[in-house]
Amino acid sequence: SDQYAVFGNPIAHSKSPQIHQWFARQTRQSITYTRQRVEEGQFESAAARFFCDGGRGLNITAPLKLNAFTYADRVTERAERAGAVNTLALQDDGSVLGDNTDGVGMVTDITANLGWDVSAKRVLILGAGGAVRGVLQPVLEQGPEQLLIANRTVAKALQLSRSFRDLGRVQVCGFEDLADRQFDLVINGTAASLAGDLPPLPDDLLAADAHCYDMMYGAAPTVFLRWARARGAVGIADGLGMLVGQAAESFYLWRGVRPDTAPVIQLLRQELT
Ligand code: ATR
Repeated sequence: SDQYAVFGNPIAHSKSPQIHQWFARQTRQSITYTRQRVEEGQFESAAARFFCDGGRGLNITAPLKLNAFTYADRVTERAERAGAVNTLALQDDGSVLGDNTDGVGMVTDITANLGWDVSAKRVLILGAGGAVRGVLQPVLEQGPEQLLIANRTVAKALQLSRSFRDLGRVQVCGFEDLADRQFDLVINGTAASLAGDLPPLPDDLLAADAHCYDMMYGAAPTVFLRWARARGAVGIADGLGMLVGQAAESFYLWRGVRPDTAPVIQLLRQELT
């Protein structure tokens, strides 16, 4: 059967092998999918060995997405915009294509699985790091009425916004500038929640009928989602669906078949709690 793997460091707790095995069973595809811990300095040789030994595709997770970007012979436009590659796919001519499925995975989760509207909405994104860079193109393609990026370091948000200006209007600000503004959809992409922290957000940030999405996930609701629920958000969701969504998009790139993500999200959720 065709071989796939995920590279990262650490990698022991990656859910990708499990997710792709569920996808394979569901779509009756015959694949093997393993995990490998790879040091940054070893990325090129490890990837070359994988493809040389007959591997067909790789998922790449932290901290190797930039290494994968450099390794790819050619990258898709969305990977170019993201400045990072999370999927490598062997092509018929022997070359390796780099793609980034994180953003489309998140937007598909928000629109198709959760049924939330992004188009014509006032959208606020918290954070301006690699995670946010990875999702901006697919979010802009939804045609939000307004897209604002709030970041602790405003200069970083400004620099980020410049690479997406041609796709739509992207505004930036600091957290203190959020006073007296309301949003219909707030997406948390800061690394703060990893440490259980929350950026300083005004209490009246959410419009009536607002939805809140956290790119992070965990067994219990994240601190951002607890904040959102307490301030009347009508819908909240963590990034578990994004994780499955990006995997589904990689699977589609490799196999040409689009798996149904909803039952896989449900299975993973059961295992988390
Ligand atoms: P990633 O690739 O996971 O996005 P990153 O590039 O280090 O990681 O970006 C982390 C993001 O979380 C940044 O937007 C960072 O804000 P700064 O650009 O000001 O550093 C944000 N972040 C991290 N810890 C934070 C905290 N305690 N409060 C607010 N924002 C935080």
